[in-house]
Amino acid sequence: MNPEIDEVIGHIGDVLTDAQKKRGVLIHAFQQIQKEQNYLPEEELIRLSKKLDIPLSDVYSTATFYKQFYFSPRGKKIVRVCTGTACHVRGADKVLDKIKEEFTIDEGETTEDLSMTLETVGCIGCCGLAPVATINESIVGEIDMKKLDLIVDSLMKDEEITGSADEE
Ligand code: FES
Repeated sequence: MNPEIDEVIGHIGDVLTDAQKKRGVLIHAFQQIQKEQNYLPEEELIRLSKKLDIPLSDVYSTATFYKQFYFSPRGKKIVRVCTGTACHVRGADKVLDKIKEEFTIDEGETTEDLSMTLETVGCIGCCGLAPVATINESIVGEIDMKKLDLIVDSLMKDEEITGSADEE
């Protein structure tokens, strides 16, 4: 086993197989890289592969197993429009379409200036506030057309979004 891996995981390593150790270290490394760079650049994965003596294919297969890791640059603001049933019934499509149109991006894409990534999400448990979206850690609920305009405006100006559910 690579001594660097043993150093990272300490005594826990005594009860783990080599494969489990490597996987654990990789996940920790992915989290650190993504925290710093907002995604997992290919050159970082190649560097990890060499440094930990793990085939690049294994590095990728471990990373792709987890939905939390991304392989292309992400926006400064991550906008997630809830498309769960309650939000769908109360107009989530309009919210999604308006943001797509205003920023000329599709679901899952990031604006060229890396200011925003647009995603959809299943129910986030705020159905009473439907339709709902999240902008980074903030929840914005009861999105009508007026609020949607404010959201788009704030995103374009890179301002904090007001009227979030966690402020109400
Ligand atoms: S369906 Fe959107 S919060 Fe529940």
